[in-house]
Amino acid sequence: MPLVTTTEMFKKAYEGGYAIGAFNVNNMEIIQGITEAAYEEKAPLILQVSAGARKYASHTYLMKLVEAALAETDLPIALHLDHGDSFELCKSCIDGGFSSVMIDGSHLSFAENIALTKRVVEYAHDKGVTVEGELGKLAGIEDDVNVSAEDGSYTKPDEVEEFVFGTGVDSLAIAIGTSHGAFKFKGEPMLRYDILEEVSRRLPEFPIVLHGASSVIPEYVDMINTFGGEMSGAKGVPEDMLRKAAGMAVCKINIDSDLRLAMTGTIRKEMAEHPDAFDPRKYLGPAREAIKEMVRHKIVNVLGCNNKI
Ligand code: G3H
Ligand code: 13P
Ligand code: ZN
Repeated sequence: MPLVTTTEMFKKAYEGGYAIGAFNVNNMEIIQGITEAAYEEKAPLILQVSAGARKYASHTYLMKLVEAALAETDLPIALHLDHGDSFELCKSCIDGGFSSVMIDGSHLSFAENIALTKRVVEYAHDKGVTVEGELGKLAGIEDDVNVSAEDGSYTKPDEVEEFVFGTGVDSLAIAIGTSHGAFKFKGEPMLRYDILEEVSRRLPEFPIVLHGASSVIPEYVDMINTFGGEMSGAKGVPEDMLRKAAGMAVCKINIDSDLRLAMTGTIRKEMAEHPDAFDPRKYLGPAREAIKEMVRHKIVNVLGCNNKI
């Protein structure tokens, strides 16, 4: 099956009260672990690539790895640009075969965000590619952007109609209290479901996206801490909060940090327990397996998108 856009998967997810997992990919083991879990659980899938990942692995390698995932599984897979920050980057991914892009103009003024997003939508739709926009600012760290907690800001529901109808985007990322990375909350985790509810009241049946949605799974944080790392204070979004969002208008849940933790924790453990081993397959293999089981858990117990193809 060729790559698909997000249109059909979001429509079914909205109607079915579940969410699609959007997992960040950087290399072969990560792509294999994620797609094997999705294949076994019959789950539609979004594989997403940040600008940093594209720089790290190269566009061609990532395309070919995703092509291999399609050939091996025949799953409905969307290949999505995560946090595109310019028209040129979005265009390059669209021209290079991605089926979906995000244009993140959340750091711009409202008017500038609309203008940039609309320009990307016009180009993308002409080529049959779907577009995610963003309103509101998440705190946290991405490759090139570090938004402090004070500079993060919730989405304003009274802006969403003008943004969505003015740009033609296919989905909208909103800020309701999640943030990128492994240190999401200083105190008790709290999400603004009232904002999510008001946004979905204003945008009936419109797919909403949640970024910064890793749970920062304690098992892997403990593993990192046990085997020489230091991640005390790491905290993510509790799974029941994500399940609640998936039952509402949230159709796409972004997960990167949990992949990083599963991979890093497992590699640290393998290296500590087998100090004489120097074959990379001896630690990358278990890391791939850990990613697979973690993604399976998300699909079945958090997102609810198993058996949906
Ligand atoms: O939201 C950002 C993702 O976690 C990607 O992170 O820009 O370091 O690849 P990255
Ligand atoms: P996490 O850092 O919570 O995994 O969020 C990833 C993300 O939003 C990618 O766009
Ligand atoms: Zn994000």
